[in-house]
Amino acid sequence: MIAAVLPAAGAGERFKNKPTDAPKQFIGLEGRPLYLWSLSALSEDSEVDVICVCVPAQSLDAVRTEIEEVLPPQQSKKVIVTAGGLTRQNSVHNGLERLSQLPTPPDFVLVHDAARPLLTTKLIKQVIESVTANGACTVAMPVTDTIKKVKDNIVGDTLNRNELVQIQTPQAARFEWLLEAHRKAARENFGTTDDSTILEYAGHQVHIVTGSPYNLKITNPEDLSLCQSLAAMLTQRS
Ligand code: CTP
Ligand code: MG
Repeated sequence: MIAAVLPAAGAGERFKNKPTDAPKQFIGLEGRPLYLWSLSALSEDSEVDVICVCVPAQSLDAVRTEIEEVLPPQQSKKVIVTAGGLTRQNSVHNGLERLSQLPTPPDFVLVHDAARPLLTTKLIKQVIESVTANGACTVAMPVTDTIKKVKDNIVGDTLNRNELVQIQTPQAARFEWLLEAHRKAARENFGTTDDSTILEYAGHQVHIVTGSPYNLKITNPEDLSLCQSLAAMLTQRS
């Protein structure tokens, strides 16, 4: 059985114009809330059996209702909505603990940022293929710009970009590996921003699946207009 965790419980501080704005995962992209884009792609995939969406506690009921209204029943019945935590790591951990309570815990799990709406079926398939073959993987992109260290606004050493990648999501692992890695990180107070680092911390090798420049994460306000153009283009193509 294959599961997914969709962390969608952040505050989106870097995206907001003012503190009272809704978190970015709930804003509309081509008429559909951002988190529903990747949730729809994941729930549409016949290989993905269950998806745990982690949202702010105060949004639990509204999100449950919205998912039932928007997704077809055969997709919405795969979705569990649970509360996230203070950090992305806490949110993913909560989602994994929730999945561990299922009558049959999953064999593999994919973790995908709700803030990356343009997740494709092709990428989901590639990640599933890699995780079932290798045990753990992450989507990543080769680095094309020159990357330099910087100190006091002055550039220093140039890093060898052949040894560098930019990490995206989905990241995936054997369910037990990722759950145990999160429990170990929580016990040992190890904090990080992604799951490949947690897996590495627990001693697992994380294989690379080459990503797509379209799989961008909405972080700052200008990312939304770029994503809107891409979404319109991809919708036209399909
Ligand atoms: N996330 C989460 N729980 C948190 C923090 C983040 O589920 N406590 C999720 C976000 O909703 C997002 C993903 O993790 O889908 C990637 O995080 P990021 O882009 O950093 O989003 P935010 O933390 O919401 O944004 P910011 O860091 O600007 O506040
Ligand atoms: Mg954040």
